[in-house]
Formats: sequence, C-alpha cells, structure tokens
Amino acid sequence: MEKIVVNGGNPLRGEVEISGAKNAVVAILPATILAQDICRIENIPNISDVTMMLTILHKMGAGIKTINKSTLEIDTTHINSYVVSHDLTTHLRASYYLIGALLGRYNCARVAMPGGCNFGVRPIDQHIKGFELLGASVSIEENAMVDARAEKLIGSPVYLDVVSVGATINVMLAAVKARGLTVIENAAKEPHIVDLANFLNSMGADVRGAGTDVIKIRGVEQLHGCTYSIIPDQIEAGTYMVAAAATGGEVLIKNIIPKHLESISAKLLECGVDIKEFDDSILVKSNGRPLRCNIKTMPHPGFPTDMQTQMAVLLSLADGTSIISEGVWDNRFRYVDQLVRMGASIKVDGKVAVIQGVEKLKSAPIKADDLRAGAAMLIAGLVAKGATEIENVVYIDRGYEDVVEKLSFLGADISRVEVPTPQVVANIS
Ligand code: EPU
Repeated sequence: MEKIVVNGGNPLRGEVEISGAKNAVVAILPATILAQDICRIENIPNISDVTMMLTILHKMGAGIKTINKSTLEIDTTHINSYVVSHDLTTHLRASYYLIGALLGRYNCARVAMPGGCNFGVRPIDQHIKGFELLGASVSIEENAMVDARAEKLIGSPVYLDVVSVGATINVMLAAVKARGLTVIENAAKEPHIVDLANFLNSMGADVRGAGTDVIKIRGVEQLHGCTYSIIPDQIEAGTYMVAAAATGGEVLIKNIIPKHLESISAKLLECGVDIKEFDDSILVKSNGRPLRCNIKTMPHPGFPTDMQTQMAVLLSLADGTSIISEGVWDNRFRYVDQLVRMGASIKVDGKVAVIQGVEKLKSAPIKADDLRAGAAMLIAGLVAKGATEIENVVYIDRGYEDVVEKLSFLGADISRVEVPTPQVVANIS
C-alpha cells in the first residue's frame, strides 16, 4: 500500500505533457478483439486500468508486445475464449466493453458484471437494450455473469433512452460486423466516442456521424489490423489546468486538443483565470483569487462530470458562493467530506453542492474515494499549507500516468510513501 504526501503551497510552474486518454484506450483495447489480427496502438497511458485490460486480453489468448513506453502491438488472432470471469472484471468498469467486442466477433459473450468507481447505481440496461435490438438474447445470471448470444447480429435502429457513453460504445462494438445498418440515436458525443469510431474505421469498419447524436454503422464482413494513436486525455489535461489555477501558478499543458477543453476553459475564464490556446497546447495562468461561478455537469459538449471534483476545490477558494449541480451521476459528492476536513465550506443536498469560498485550505489526512475524488484530493493537497497525506492512491493510479513525477516537475513538493501493511500481533495474554 502507498500514500501520497504533498507539502502544499508551491505554485505550479512549467510544462506538462498529457498522456493518452483513459476512456478512449479502455474502449479501443477491447475493440482490437474484432480485428482478429495485429493492431499497433500508440500513445497508450501507463495507468492501472490499462494494465487490467491488457491482463484480461492476455488471459483470453491475445499476444501483447511492447514496442516502446507508450506503444503496444496487440495480436488478437488467437483469442480462444468468450468468457471473462469475476476476478478480472471487479476493478474495471470498462470490462463491459468486452461484451460488445466478443459479441461482435463470436456472436457470443459471457462477461462478469463490471466493477469500477462507485457513484450510486450504475445500470447497464441501455447496453442490453442495444444488444437485444441487434438480435442478441441477454440474461444476467445469479452469479452476475452477463450472457449475450445471437444466431446472427442484424443492424437495427437503436434509440438510447439516456445519453450513455458506455452504451454508445458497446453498441458500436457489437454493430460493426452485424449485417446491415445500425443507427444509434441519442448517442453520446464525447471525444473518446469519436476516437473509437476512427479506430474502428482504421480497421475497415464503416462508422459515420460519431461526435453527433446520430451514429450510423454499416456492418462489414471482416476487419483488419491497423496502426492507431490514442487521443490525449481531456480530463487529465483539465485536471492540470485546474491545479495550475488553484495553486496560483502558470503551466503550459502540452499534447492536447484545445477543442476538447472548451467547456473547462470557459469555466476557468469565468473564474478569472487567464487561458491562452495554441495548436496543441494551452497556457493556464492564475490571476489572484478565483472568482465564483456555477457549474452544471452534462454529457459532452457540456461540462464533464469527470471534472466536477477538481473544480469544487478551486471554487472552495473562490471569492463568493458557487453552486455545482451534478447532472450525470446520482452520488458524486462523497469526496466533499474530505474537503470539509481541510476547511472548505460545502453543503450538499442531493445532486447539488453549495460552496462558500474560503481564503485557504489546511492540510489534513485525507483519502481518495474514487479516481476523480483522488484528483481533487491532490489539488487540495497542493494548495493547503503543510503536509497532506492522501490514502487510497490506487484510485489515482487508475487514470493518471506518472502523476507524482509530473507534479514534481512542475515544482510541487510531492512524494509516494510506502505504508507498512499492519502486522497481526499475536495474543500473548
Ligand atoms: N445509464 C443508465 N443506463 C445505462 C447506462 C448508463 O441509466 O445502461 C446512466 C448512468 O447511470 C448515468 C448516465 O447514464 O447516470 C451516464 O452514464 P454513462 O453510461 O455515460 O457512463 P459510463 O459509460 O459508465 C463513462 C466514463 C466515466 C464518466 C461517464 C460520463 C468510462 C470507462 N467511464 O462512464 O468516467 O463519468 O462516462 O461521462 O468511459 C472517470 O473517468 O472517472 C469516469 C467515471
């Protein structure tokens, strides 16, 4: 077990390079199953969600060859199983993409229900609806195995009742080799949906309209291997933007797509932060105490829910009262208790948080309750004077590559510390 210790108070200054997008790579890696061939994937972030997905693919019979730090060759020619058991899926939400990919390749998938971060109920009814409309029978067995099978998948209109990233991706994966045309209506429009569509098209698929709310997929007989580079991580970039702003620093964030950051930049501008966009980088410079603002999280192109926690730290330090309304998840304010322990003044009522800005935060022992809660704890630790110890670092490692190294390079006083595993003391009485 490890914890991160931050001695806060240093403004972040310098340059940081953003890694490949977690939520794109966790869809693209399972999508390689559809190729039955070798795919060379570049710009893969070294995060634990990727390690878990690669472990699953390897256990299923995929060959994985490291080309360099961020490039892998995945050979799915000899995948020999369409079953993925519980021990492999419990820590990874994205393991449910294996259902769509295996169904697309074998017309059959048996995958244990996914794990991942806990923000209340995380149903998969829209994924199942999509598979069924394509002709699959889907059942969830008592041991929480999802069993999906079809004689043949046939393209169909699929209207999603809620805008769901996961359901949009899963239907795309199942439909690329189905016979005929699938039209996903009310599709999610996140950058990683477009990235997956581009990857599938590089393998020979016919996917159009990704990035709009109607995606058309004309099934093809066969796909083939390709070389593909993952887009930069919108949320990692946004996290460094907010960290720069909260610490009163000046950071050039490199290897990004400014268009993907528009909603985040807009809110930071409202908070009085200076933002300068370049072709593939963005300069963030803090201009004194942040101004208050209100935020409502929404599916893309709205403000991303995955940036809600980080903004809560910035607004905790703002001059005035801000309101954050969570529009995607039922329960994404669990981290607030930790910030309150650090002196923040935040009241939560259901899916709304009212934040009364304070002048400073103070260090305290805190923990990451999930990945983005962990990002918020890091920013809070960077801001608070004194030593802040953050537990549950495993959550942060799920989605942030080399986070301690990147922040140190920007001038943060931050390190990882091994926590001794508690010893069982023998009863000697
Ligand atoms: N929903 C349903 N039924 C479904 C699917 C979703 O009701 O069948 C609801 C959910 O309960 C939620 C809303 O629809 O209220 C949106 O859920 P979505 O399916 O879009 O979320 P997801 O695919 O499970 C992905 C990201 C999350 C991110 C959300 C929203 C991945 C692996 N995860 O989750 O990322 O918060 O989209 O943008 O792509 C993170 O990176 O920290 C993270 C949690």
